[in-house]
Amino acid sequence: MAREISLTVNGTEHELSVEPRTLLINVLRDELDYTGPNVGCESSMCGACTVHLDGEAVKSCTLLAVQADGAEVTTVEGLADDGEFHPIQQGFQEEHGLQCGYCTPGMMMTATELLERNPDPSEEEIREALEGNLCRCTGYQNIVRAVENAAEKMQERPAVADGGGD
Ligand code: FES
Ligand code: FES
Repeated sequence: MAREISLTVNGTEHELSVEPRTLLINVLRDELDYTGPNVGCESSMCGACTVHLDGEAVKSCTLLAVQADGAEVTTVEGLADDGEFHPIQQGFQEEHGLQCGYCTPGMMMTATELLERNPDPSEEEIREALEGNLCRCTGYQNIVRAVENAAEKMQERPAVADGGGD
């Protein structure tokens, strides 16, 4: 029996009716047309389907859509800000962090979560964070460089004023 759920994806709220067995990745791709997250292994191994769920990187092929009811979801389409690439997207571009690109959306979502909680990760920390994301093409070196590049860019960003002082 279908369940009513609400999902906010990249800032847009969606009300949906889903079967309890429906996976989050299928709702995102097939019903809402967010085709950035990819389907690879469908068994939590490859990370191609990674999105953020309330700020946490999750593999959307192993999460039921009903488990995401009421949550904020961010897909790779939500990274750019007003047409300007997110630093992680710039990093992948500048460091040639992709070849076929199939793993890239998931890599970016895992990497941005890492940079949110650890703005200056070591190479080892980056490799550890990306352990659950597989790439068949690049050999990973340029992906690690892309994340380092993004970390530098994010640290150089001017601090956002908190609006408190007169
Ligand atoms: S498709 Fe989800 S982890 Fe591979
Ligand atoms: S760029 Fe092809 S799988 Fe990673």
